[in-house]
Amino acid sequence: MSKNIVITGGAGFIGSHVVREFVLKYPDYHIINIDTLTYAGNLANLNDVENHPNYSFVKADITEADTVLKIFKQYMPDGVIHLAAESHVDRSISDPILFVMTNVIGTVNLLNASREIWKDDFGGKRFHHVSTDEVYGTLGETGFFTEHTAYDPHSPYSASKASSDHFVRAYHDTYGLPIVLTNCSNNYGPNHFPEKLIPLCIHNILNDKPLPIYGNGKFTRDWLYVIDHARAIDLVFHEGTDGEAYNVGGFNEWKNIDLVKELCRQMDTKLGRLNGTSAQLITFVGDRPGHDLRYAIDATKINKELGYNPSVTFEEGLSITIDWYLSNEGWLNDVTSGDYQNYYRNQYQ
Ligand code: NAD
Ligand code: TYD
Repeated sequence: MSKNIVITGGAGFIGSHVVREFVLKYPDYHIINIDTLTYAGNLANLNDVENHPNYSFVKADITEADTVLKIFKQYMPDGVIHLAAESHVDRSISDPILFVMTNVIGTVNLLNASREIWKDDFGGKRFHHVSTDEVYGTLGETGFFTEHTAYDPHSPYSASKASSDHFVRAYHDTYGLPIVLTNCSNNYGPNHFPEKLIPLCIHNILNDKPLPIYGNGKFTRDWLYVIDHARAIDLVFHEGTDGEAYNVGGFNEWKNIDLVKELCRQMDTKLGRLNGTSAQLITFVGDRPGHDLRYAIDATKINKELGYNPSVTFEEGLSITIDWYLSNEGWLNDVTSGDYQNYYRNQYQ
């Protein structure tokens, strides 16, 4: 194997697509997926690659420093792509400390372990921290987040990710640890856990349940197909400049209400329902506290410096995504049984 690459959070939504991208594209890399399998981690996301000879799974919790160091000493990774996190804003509002533990302490444990095993020679090594545009806070009606926008997080989730970003930069500036960061906009696609807006609405449309829209529905997000995020991570991991951050996005802004209406339109067509049927499920509910009005990524840097462009339009990506959920109802039923029901009741009733 030419390189050992640790990917954390590889059983989650984005992580599973990154693992697949690397396992299939780089047969000479050994990909080690470290994941503790929280409610959001699901090995079924990786069924198709789990038996590949260049893939290993290690069930471990990144909040445990000794465990992380032990695994790093065993596998001696040349690179780390760090995605493991608590990732849902609404959960961060009810349990902020969990977000500090995983997103902040977990990240620092990984930085320490990398520093420890690479201390003799940082040459050819790289720690890639996968972060979010939410660290920049909120935009008004106009403007974009660039890599120079000041951090201004508002939710416990975004505050924990901002803190982890600061630690990653601090380890570069203080110890010379070779790092890159990517700050990506909202992802959507197959394997997305149905607590987030798009898969939650797909699941509810299939079950004739209300589609809960927070506040007035005019909150705006910039959506990127998950495989295009995985491609961007691959590009920045291999070709990004040491110490730099890259914003990742597709210039694809949607107000929540318009997005849900487009989703309803596509679902009606695919399910053979009269156009307008699913939209009748739209229900305005109380707003999320600290709700950021608008996110929009300026992706000029990654485009100009690394030649990155998304590969699908939103309409195509959404259509592929809906098709995936329609042909994977077993996956959806599995992840929405058990604890999900309690979460859903507490959050929406
Ligand atoms: P996810 O919640 O679907 O998956 C997170 C994964 O991390 C799960 O497999 C979970 O089991 C694992 N994990 C959680 N705590 C862990 C711990 N203590 N030890 C080991 N593993 C642990 O998240 P996602 O949406 O795939 O996001 C992945 C990363 O990308 C996160 O860092 C997130 O901040 C970032 N990101 C997400 C989005 C998005 O739209 N989802 C956008 C930009 C950036
Ligand atoms: P979400 O998918 O949770 O991602 P994020 O908060 O990280 O952007 O939410 C996307 C948008 O959809 C956000 O403005 C909140 C809104 N939203 C709803 O209106 N209803 C819902 O049930 C959920 C989960 C989100």
